[in-house]
Amino acid sequence: MRILSGITSSGETHIGNYFGAMRQHVALQTRGQAIYFIADYHSMTVVRDAAERRRLVREVALDYLALGLDPARSILYRQSDLPEVCELTWILTSITPMGLLERSHAYKDKIAQGLPLDHGLFAYPVLMAADILIYRADLVPVGQDQKQHLEMARDIAQRFNHVYGAEVLSLPEPQILEEVAVVPGVDGRKMSKSYANAIRMFWPEKEIKRAVMGIVTDSTPVEAPKDMKAPLFQLWSLFASESERSELFARAKAGGLGYGEVKKDLLGRLLEHFAPARARREELAKRPGDVEDVLADGARRARELGAPVLAAAREAAGLGRGPA
Ligand code: TRP
Repeated sequence: MRILSGITSSGETHIGNYFGAMRQHVALQTRGQAIYFIADYHSMTVVRDAAERRRLVREVALDYLALGLDPARSILYRQSDLPEVCELTWILTSITPMGLLERSHAYKDKIAQGLPLDHGLFAYPVLMAADILIYRADLVPVGQDQKQHLEMARDIAQRFNHVYGAEVLSLPEPQILEEVAVVPGVDGRKMSKSYANAIRMFWPEKEIKRAVMGIVTDSTPVEAPKDMKAPLFQLWSLFASESERSELFARAKAGGLGYGEVKKDLLGRLLEHFAPARARREELAKRPGDVEDVLADGARRARELGAPVLAAAREAAGLGRGPA
């Protein structure tokens, strides 16, 4: 089984990315051939600084390796090391109906927000389809927010096969990672790079502490019962077992539980949870050449898997000279 997923390197990763995707990616490594890539082509609709783009790819690679991605087993590569994906994107673009892309929630959101739109933003789902289809990936673990993009990838694959009368592309199965639907940020909104409300697991301890202590709380006095839907409790719950959760929930309901105490406990749990990964990352960061080697080897292995599919797509579409 081929498992494929990507993470856009449009910012530094945070505990929302960890619980929403990265943790599951690492866990899935034993279920088949996992292929994970750092989507720097996708980052181009957001990041417009060359040095920053390069830096972010390396940071995300370090994060994955520190969190336990095993390069001996899984493939980790930088998307732009495989420009072939852009060729497949063009091939797919020409059979993708405008209406399909116009229905994209992500695109409609951008319009609603009044953001400046470029063509890359509009074509984003086609690039994502190419990422997936080039490996005939079986399983694509993604967050709920990417579900529509996956449905589009399936539609695009089906359409390509239909138009060119060949079973070249296979339909990927989405695996929606719903276990942790939304990780709130310190301001209570969804944790996101773009809201400046994230907690990064690889920050220096001092910075993590400042962020945790800054999690929004209301002015409910210590003695009063607390609302367990508050972002502080949701964040705390990520690091607690079922029984610890019911215990704390009971205390919160009874009153007498202060937010300060919960914040301190959350900080302790968070640091403990990420201690091994933080130590590993520090070691890895001392050898940047090794990280580049992992990415280069990943690109080589990814190319081996993707090349036959791209060749079959070119052949079906009548591109190039063709067989003699
Ligand atoms: N668009 C995805 C995100 O923002 C990242 C991504 C790019 C991806 N290509 C992919 C995920 C292919 C899964 C498969 O999270």
